[in-house]
Amino acid sequence: MAIKIAPSILSARFDRLGDQVREASDAGADMLHIDVMDGHFVPNLTMGPAIVKSIRPLTKVPLDAHLMVTHPQDFVKAFAEAGVDDLTVHVESDHDVRATIRAIRDAGVSPGVVLNPATPFEKSVPYLGDVDLLLVMTVHPGFSGQAFRADVVPKIRAARKYVDQEHLAVEIQVDGGIKVDTAPVVAEAGADILVSGSGIFPDRVRENLMALRQAAEKGRASSKRI
Ligand code: DX5
Ligand code: ZN
Repeated sequence: MAIKIAPSILSARFDRLGDQVREASDAGADMLHIDVMDGHFVPNLTMGPAIVKSIRPLTKVPLDAHLMVTHPQDFVKAFAEAGVDDLTVHVESDHDVRATIRAIRDAGVSPGVVLNPATPFEKSVPYLGDVDLLLVMTVHPGFSGQAFRADVVPKIRAARKYVDQEHLAVEIQVDGGIKVDTAPVVAEAGADILVSGSGIFPDRVRENLMALRQAAEKGRASSKRI
């Protein structure tokens, strides 16, 4: 399957968020990534279900919400009702991960688990049979515009190997510092979905997205798994 690109609207201009959502959708975004931060799990505050609800009618592109919050289980229903397609939750947060995954699935949404850069791949393994997405963070979560952490690349490779060996229906997503120079690296290592905030928004959205896709496809081709 072709590489997917998921622009993160955290780097969009919030004074014209609707236009930016349309720009990214028209430019061929495969999904739109929504970074939800609560000021507790990470030291930043961003957006919640109200934003999802207001952009939902503007695009047909799937909405992918990345929950960087404490008690993620408390927010599943609100995000599902607001219209998200995927919900990813951190294994490091304070919840019964398995129960949250089940609640997401029961709400009719695709579940995924997320690993911080410091969290080993093994922590996700107990859940991989029950999720559709594994998000491997390539920055410490909290802010866009941080530098890509190359030390996470072996974890992407390990995830790819495991998912293929076990024939799991799990897409591997990477998030943080993905630009034209790092996209080929993660694509070669086995990522399926590349999230990018400051690599795409706020200006030249179409050009940036196309350049990122091209760079990623080159990396994918060099991995010989097209
Ligand atoms: C970081 C967020 C990312 C962020 C990516 O906590 O999860 O999705 O928006 O931004 P860039 O691509 O600028 O690193
Ligand atoms: Zn994110």
